[in-house]
Amino acid sequence: MAFLEISNLQKRFGTQTAVHDFSISIEKGEFITFLGPSGCGKTTILRMLAGFETPSNGRIVFDGKDVTHVPTNQRNVGMVFQSYALFPNMTVAGNIGFGLKVAGMAPGDIDTRVKEMLSLIKLDALADRYPWQMSGGQQQRVALARAIANKPKVLLLDEPLSALDAKIRISLREEIRALQRELNITTVFVTHDQEEALSISDRIVVLSEGRSEQTGAPSAIYNFPRTRFVASFIGTLNQVPAEVVDAANSSIRIAGHVLTTSNPLGNLKSGQQCMVAIRPEAITLGAPQAGKNALNAVVDEVSFLGSIVRIRAKASEQPISLDVFNDPSQTLPQRGEAVSLNFSYDNLLILE
Ligand SMILES: Nc1ncnc2c1ncn2[C@@H]1O[C@H](COP(=O)(O)OP(=O)(O)OP(=O)(O)O)[C@@H](O)[C@H]1O
Ligand SMILES: [Mg+2]
Repeated sequence: MAFLEISNLQKRFGTQTAVHDFSISIEKGEFITFLGPSGCGKTTILRMLAGFETPSNGRIVFDGKDVTHVPTNQRNVGMVFQSYALFPNMTVAGNIGFGLKVAGMAPGDIDTRVKEMLSLIKLDALADRYPWQMSGGQQQRVALARAIANKPKVLLLDEPLSALDAKIRISLREEIRALQRELNITTVFVTHDQEEALSISDRIVVLSEGRSEQTGAPSAIYNFPRTRFVASFIGTLNQVPAEVVDAANSSIRIAGHVLTTSNPLGNLKSGQQCMVAIRPEAITLGAPQAGKNALNAVVDEVSFLGSIVRIRAKASEQPISLDVFNDPSQTLPQRGEAVSLNFSYDNLLILE
């Protein structure tokens, strides 16, 4: 059994079901991210893990113990919220030591532990400050220290970075990840920011309307989205209507061209319509190559984005974008130029 087992978890609020039959096994020390749009049920699942919300159905097991109906204070979880939620009338040291005091730790031991935590988050000098005397990023580091001071079994982070500005957000997410690795704390992190999720997670669960759409490593989610929802949520994918020409040899018609995929067609039969996806960075320009797909297209727009150049082309009215790395020595195609868009068989993805 995995360290954290969530089975068939469900939450209804009146007639609305916020979480449908959600299951996942999380290993000790894993960093899992729940990623999805507003209202998809991320916080509700986290609150059930923390014990703030009772599941309508299902089971939560921490380290072999069923905690589904165990109160929060006996679950040994640490939690950090989006808003800093520090106690405003307590100093940094007071905030970090608060849970330890409640747990009955001896004052001397609390001091030692608080010092350890302060050095871990590199705020040793700020022990006597009050929350209002610190920046948002510093406050969130204190909230993190407070959450892990009690050595929780599971750390739950609900959009802890979303109130911070972009630069601090990136440096703090790296700090959180490094700390999590160092302490080997099993962590569930919630965000609606796909880049954040891709950059720090061992695995991502993409959620939509209270259901898991896909679970996998960041590269698997990014490179092989299984559904249209995941494909549109995770980046800038070309989604193109297509028709299965011959299911037996995986040939697909797109914009009047018969192409090949090496990815599974699922239950699709010859003659059926479907959606396919092609990553902009998987497409190259140049002469068509044997053993690769090629689409004849006309360049519509060329946008210089810095390290990459995004080219929008049209293949029989079907817009398709591709990205090429910026290279000062190369000549970019011109608007109106006829080009061949080339990509390998495995870069033609079939969406459910
Ligand atoms: N206490 C509650 N009573 C009734 N409905 C609720 C309650 N809490 C959440 N909901 C509903 O459940 C659904 C999921 O909410 P939840 O807060 O889990 O979403 P979320 O994914 O965390 O969204 P966000 O990214 O905006 O924080 C929403 O439709 C919300 O309105
Ligand atoms: Mg939320």
